[in-house]
Amino acid sequence: MNKLAVIGAGYVGLVTGICLASCGHDVTCMDIDECKIDQLKAGRLPLFEPGLQELHDTNTAKGRLSFTTNPEQAVQHAEGVFIAVGTPPRKDGGADLSYIHNAIQSIAPFLQKDSVIIMKSTVPVGTHADVKKLLDRTAGHPVRLVSNPEFLREGSAVNDFFYSDRIVIGSNDPSPASFVEQLYHSIPSPVIHTDPQTAEMIKYSSNAFLAAKISFINEMAALCEAEGADISMVAAGMGMDKRIGEHFLKAGIGYGGSCFPKDTTALLYSAAQQNITVPLLSSIHEVNRRQPRVFIKKVLDRFGSIEGKKAAVLGLTFKPNTDDLRRSPSREIINLLVEEGAMVTGYDPVVSVSGKRVWQIPLAQTMEEALTGADLAVICTEWKEIIDFPLHCYPLYMKEANIFDGRNCYPVSQARGLPLFYSSVGRPVYKGI
Ligand code: UDX
Repeated sequence: MNKLAVIGAGYVGLVTGICLASCGHDVTCMDIDECKIDQLKAGRLPLFEPGLQELHDTNTAKGRLSFTTNPEQAVQHAEGVFIAVGTPPRKDGGADLSYIHNAIQSIAPFLQKDSVIIMKSTVPVGTHADVKKLLDRTAGHPVRLVSNPEFLREGSAVNDFFYSDRIVIGSNDPSPASFVEQLYHSIPSPVIHTDPQTAEMIKYSSNAFLAAKISFINEMAALCEAEGADISMVAAGMGMDKRIGEHFLKAGIGYGGSCFPKDTTALLYSAAQQNITVPLLSSIHEVNRRQPRVFIKKVLDRFGSIEGKKAAVLGLTFKPNTDDLRRSPSREIINLLVEEGAMVTGYDPVVSVSGKRVWQIPLAQTMEEALTGADLAVICTEWKEIIDFPLHCYPLYMKEANIFDGRNCYPVSQARGLPLFYSSVGRPVYKGI
C-alpha cells in the first residue's frame, strides 16, 4: 500500500484515483474546483461512468479515498503524485499546458524529497524535459518524474483500468519506474518500459491509429454506398484477418470526444513545428471533419429542402454510456439541420434527464416524445435504449418515418416490409415509403 495523490479530479484523475484506491492504496484527490470537491466529499461523482460510483463508495467507507482543494494536504505525505489535469486544445491546435504548469507550481513546494511525480495527462512529445525543469526549479531539488499515459475509454474506464492491454512507463531512471510498476502490481497487464518521449509518443500514435481506422472505414462506407456493398460485412470480413483486427471498424458519423479530435490536432501541430509533413494524419482529421456533412447530404437528397420539417435527433453524447458531449458529432449534425431550417428536438438517455438545455435545442424526455409528429429522425449515438427501440415502432409516432441512422443501430433486414425510409452508413437504403 502506498500513499498517493492525484492532482485533477476530472475524468482521468477520478477514474485513476478511485481505481488506485481499489488496488489498496491510500489516495487523496485534489482539484482547484471547490464545488467539485464539495460534491465529491458529499459522496456524489461529478460525472457518469459505469461502476465508478460503487468503487468510490466502497473506498471512501474503507478510508482509502479522500478529496481536498489544498495542495499541501494532498502531497505532503505522498510517495507518488499523479498529474491528471486537462490539456485542452489551443486555437492554433497545440495543447494548452497551463493547467499542468499551474498544478506543478502549486504542489512543488510541498513535495517530499523522494516522491515520484507521474504524468497521466496527455502531453505533447518532448514535454517531459520541460516539466522536469519546472518541477526541479519550483521544488528547489531534483524531482523524479515518470510518464505513464492512460488509455481509458469513457463508458468502460473502470474495466479498462483493471484489464488494460498494457501499462506504459516512461522514465530515464529505473528506480521511479519500478516504483510506478509496483503501484499496479495487482493488475495483470503487460508493462512496457521506455524513455519518456517514447511513452508520450505511444499515447499519441495509438490514438491517431485508432482514429485512422475509423476514418478509413468511413471512407470505405462511402464507396460501399456507391457500389451497393454493405460496410458491416466488409468490416466483419476485414476484421477476421488478425493483422487488421475487428475493433474500431464501425462506420458512422465520425469520432468525437475529448481525446481523438484533440490529440490528432495536437500531433498535427507538433509535426508542423518539426517541419515534418504528415499527409496521412491530415487526412484522418479531414475525413472526420467532413463526415457529419456527408451524412446530412443524405437527408437533403431525400427531402430537397428540410425548411420547417420536424427533426428528432436521437443520442447526443459522443458515444454511449457517458454523459460527455465534448466534440460530439451530433452537435455538427444539429447545426447543419438547424442551418437548413429544420425544427430540431433532441433526445438522449442521459442528457435529457439531467434537465440541461444543450446547444439551444429543446430536449424531449423520452424517445417517443422526440419522435411524435417528426418528419425525420437522425440517430447520432448507439445507446442500448435506441438499439432496443424496434424499427417498426417509428411509424407509430412519426408523421413520416424517415430514419437516418448515423450509427448503424439496426440490421437493414429489420426494415423490410415496414412503411418507412431507412438510410444508414455504408449499407443499402430501404425505401418502404
Ligand atoms: C479514446 C481511446 O479509445 C482511449 O484509449 C483514450 O484513452 C481516450 O480516447 P474515448 O474517447 O473514451 O477513448 O472513446 P472511444 O471508445 O475510443 O470512441 C471515440 C469516438 O470514436 C466515439 O465518438 C465513437 O463513436 C467513435 N468510434 C469508435 C467510431 O466511430 N467507430 C468505431 O469503430 C469506434
